[in-house]
Amino acid sequence: MTPDCTYWDTVPAAFLEDDRSNPARAAAAGIVRREVAAGAQTVTEIGPGTGIDFELLRPIPGLEYMGIDGSRGMVQRLVDKHGPYFIQGGFDDIPPSDIVYCRSVLEHQPDFRRPLQAMLEAASRLVLVSWYRPPAKTTEADYDVLAHVHYNTFAAADVATAIEQAGWTVTDHWTTAPDNLLQEIRPA
Ligand SMILES: C[S@@+](CC[C@H](N)C(=O)[O-])C[C@H]1O[C@@H](n2cnc3c(N)ncnc32)[C@H](O)[C@@H]1O
Repeated sequence: MTPDCTYWDTVPAAFLEDDRSNPARAAAAGIVRREVAAGAQTVTEIGPGTGIDFELLRPIPGLEYMGIDGSRGMVQRLVDKHGPYFIQGGFDDIPPSDIVYCRSVLEHQPDFRRPLQAMLEAASRLVLVSWYRPPAKTTEADYDVLAHVHYNTFAAADVATAIEQAGWTVTDHWTTAPDNLLQEIRPA
């Protein structure tokens, strides 16, 4: 079922351009590149937004990319700019993929559990989750400059437990400034 992402239809084309050089993006692309060298073929990105990470992933030789975003406006702009690599949809629409990649999307979901579970069910080798607001169990959701909600109310231990209970494990993680966490998650 396509999620309600009408808010995201309204963000400007230059959204997150100031985050383009965030080291978490290059780190994620580097991990995907190594995974493809080791035999992976398909990556699905959930919530590609304006396609900043698509531009890093697309040049990886041999990699088949698909992006799924809930926002009709985002998808239209992505297709117009890059071609038919993108469809409108949500976490439950992720096809079986060697790799699932998700940056700055989970913290916008009221609960992380079903979205995380859906990514772990769809992926066979690797799930890369990049948090702009890492799980921290604050008491309230907070709002960014665009007045959009970040649900920073997940406890890191609850996220770790959900991953373990699904039979996966966090094999590595990087904290990148400002306030970012990239998690490399693989079958246990
Ligand atoms: C903060 S932006 C991140 C964009 C991109 N990943 C990046 O880091 O540049 C969040 C994106 O996720 C999409 N999104 C939010 N919730 C979603 C959901 N439940 N299913 C699919 N896409 C979603 C939004 O439409 C938006 O494009």
